Amino acid sequence: MDLEAFRELLTPEGRTALAEAVRVVAEGLDPVAAATTLRRVHDPALTSAALTQAALRRRGEAKFGDEAAVMYFTPHGLEQATRTEVAAHRARRVAGAAGQGQGVGATGATGPRVLDVCCGIGGDLIALARAGCAVDAVDLDPLAAEVALANAAALGLTDRVQVRTADAADTDPSAYDVLFADPARRGSRGRVFDPMAYSPSWPATLELASRAPAACLKVAPGIPYELVPEGAEAEWVSYKGEVKEAAIWLGGFAPALDDESPGHTSTGFSRRATLLPSGETLVPTGAEADTGPVARYLYEPDGAAVRAHLVAEVADLVGGRLLDPRIAYITGDALVRTPWAAAYEVHEVMPFSLKALRAALRKRGVGNATIKKRGSAVDIEQLRRDLRLSGDNSVVIVLTRIADRPYALICQAV
Ligand SMILES: C[S@@+](CC[C@H](N)C(=O)[O-])C[C@H]1O[C@@H](n2cnc3c(N)ncnc32)[C@H](O)[C@@H]1O
Repeated sequence: MDLEAFRELLTPEGRTALAEAVRVVAEGLDPVAAATTLRRVHDPALTSAALTQAALRRRGEAKFGDEAAVMYFTPHGLEQATRTEVAAHRARRVAGAAGQGQGVGATGATGPRVLDVCCGIGGDLIALARAGCAVDAVDLDPLAAEVALANAAALGLTDRVQVRTADAADTDPSAYDVLFADPARRGSRGRVFDPMAYSPSWPATLELASRAPAACLKVAPGIPYELVPEGAEAEWVSYKGEVKEAAIWLGGFAPALDDESPGHTSTGFSRRATLLPSGETLVPTGAEADTGPVARYLYEPDGAAVRAHLVAEVADLVGGRLLDPRIAYITGDALVRTPWAAAYEVHEVMPFSLKALRAALRKRGVGNATIKKRGSAVDIEQLRRDLRLSGDNSVVIVLTRIADRPYALICQAV
């Protein structure tokens, strides 16, 4: 969808075409029949834009819930947008930043003035505005900027939001209370994993942050520790058990420099793991985990705790120990329920061998297996085929390494 097609969607005829497209998509009409229906009334370009938008709204429900029905998306914009719950979590903390309570040119906000330098279709922008911030947003892509503005309007937030097309490099973070940046992690050839290849690049984003009184930078959860600036707080966030992002909090958000908490002193920055939607959070306690043999229960820590190097803290919570000092599986004699780890009861432990595992599963009548691995090079799908499972029972198979030897654990989820 180009800018012209998007603008057409905002006209009265465009809105009518989109409403019809939403209706035919909801009725389950196949794409050809849907296009034929709309083209009786609208031209081909508007028909195509409306049907694309209707399909995107449907996809958008996974991230934006019911509000997707009034929002606008681009395919890349939707893919890169922060889901509502995660954006709202961050926005609450941003809104608590010290600020003058006057937006730059915006009037409806009571919270800090925030500069969002990579607003995309506005996932974070909306959450920040909702939390009470006055947000000035820019995006290099004119279409993204217009879509973000249309979304702010659709959700009744225009009194506290301004959006324009600009390069982040041409903004002045020092004029705001908070800089928020969610650099693009997509290049022309798909997803980008190296923060140096983000747009703006990680050094350029940090330079912008250094000019703001406080900053929050959203990055991929795999950010290498050596790229997190000294003194920052890095917060890994998972949503319903899946790690979504890390937020790097700087300036006024960073912990005090004399903070000598265990997490801070060992890495030069503070670490935190947060679970959403509950909002539970875990910070380093200085816990150290022992290593020991497989016991009755196996615990798989939440990915946010693993990324934040808080596995010893989770082991402490469940009174457990590690199976191997380098692998994030915990074992323990007692069943302790915690949102920080999934628990499994261990039924059988064996050095990994396809033949032995197949025989054990056959004996147990296992037709359905969830296969998990950490520290194992086994190709899970290939293994599933090779196991030729058959039977009425279900198990969880955990493949791991203990003291450099591969093991398979046959377990049951608790
Ligand atoms: C990850 S998306 C932002 C998603 C947004 N936070 C949301 O929740 O919808 C990154 C955006 O940065 C924009 N971008 C990339 N380089 C930029 C630059 N130098 N200046 C401003 N925006 C840029 C891209 O066009 C893209 O829309």
